[in-house]
Amino acid sequence: MQAPRQVHTAVFPVAGLGTRFLPATKASPKEMLPIVDKPLIQYAVEEAYAAGVRHMVFVTGRSKRAIEDHFDTAYELESELEAAGKAELLAVVRAVQPADMDCTYVRQPRSLGLGHAVLCAAHIVGEHPFAVLLADDLMVGPPGGAPVLAQMVDAFASLGGSVLAVQQVPADQVRRYGIVAGTPAGQRLIGIERIVEKPAPEEAPSRMGVAGRYILTPRIFDEIRAQPPGAGGEIQLTDAIARLMQSERVYAYQYEGKRYDCGSKEGFLQATVELALQHPQMGAAFRDYLKALAF
Ligand code: UTP
Repeated sequence: MQAPRQVHTAVFPVAGLGTRFLPATKASPKEMLPIVDKPLIQYAVEEAYAAGVRHMVFVTGRSKRAIEDHFDTAYELESELEAAGKAELLAVVRAVQPADMDCTYVRQPRSLGLGHAVLCAAHIVGEHPFAVLLADDLMVGPPGGAPVLAQMVDAFASLGGSVLAVQQVPADQVRRYGIVAGTPAGQRLIGIERIVEKPAPEEAPSRMGVAGRYILTPRIFDEIRAQPPGAGGEIQLTDAIARLMQSERVYAYQYEGKRYDCGSKEGFLQATVELALQHPQMGAAFRDYLKALAF
């Protein structure tokens, strides 16, 4: 029997259209864009695994087959690497799917919003708390510290209520986020009293923006089901969280670490440069290269 405050399942909604990255995303998923040598989705899966999650549920859509292939065994590639004696590369390929990790795929037939995408996983998640990770938000934990989802799993274990990752955002960017406001509820924690999706700067109740990591209680599925479509005809997760707050406590957790918005070109390039600089094999040479560039 699963302990109610443990998180065993993570949902990865990867059925968005990725229009900000066209034409790159015309036939291949945004989540397969690599930062240095690893696709965005693998960073997110590794973060979930490091937080103790072993069941990964991908909500996929059109043109997302590459994600299934990525987390499947690549027999041909593996046997060729083995025959060529390339043990290090073989280990890199095999590490993508650890033996104790299960992957399940479910389709979202139309891009009807993040809330709808999460609901598509309801029959797989069942009546248990679960994590949601948006892979286009690449989260890097503090140097030597716990990754962001692991920090949230700890917070959830002590609170028992849903937890959303938040960060301070500049006033002119509140329009791009779900914004929360509430009262302090512990270290790095806020008990949320209001949540508003993409407010105008003058209407934002704070500058605490929700990042793409959530731990949700299963009641969220009932709230999504009961909800009429919101902005743009989409079923928004934020609206369902606002309803959930009427029956359960919901917390915001100010994570330790850094977020790169890799759904935008700017954030994607920043992540590429910063993670390349930290890369164990190529970081030093890349730093020299950047220094030598004449700006
Ligand atoms: P975004 O708002 O980033 O949308 O979705 P998008 O379609 O991926 O990208 P743009 O804005 O057109 O460039 C946030 C997250 O929710 C998922 C996306 O895959 C992304 O991880 N999503 C969104 C779905 O899975 N289904 C949807 O219907 C909408």
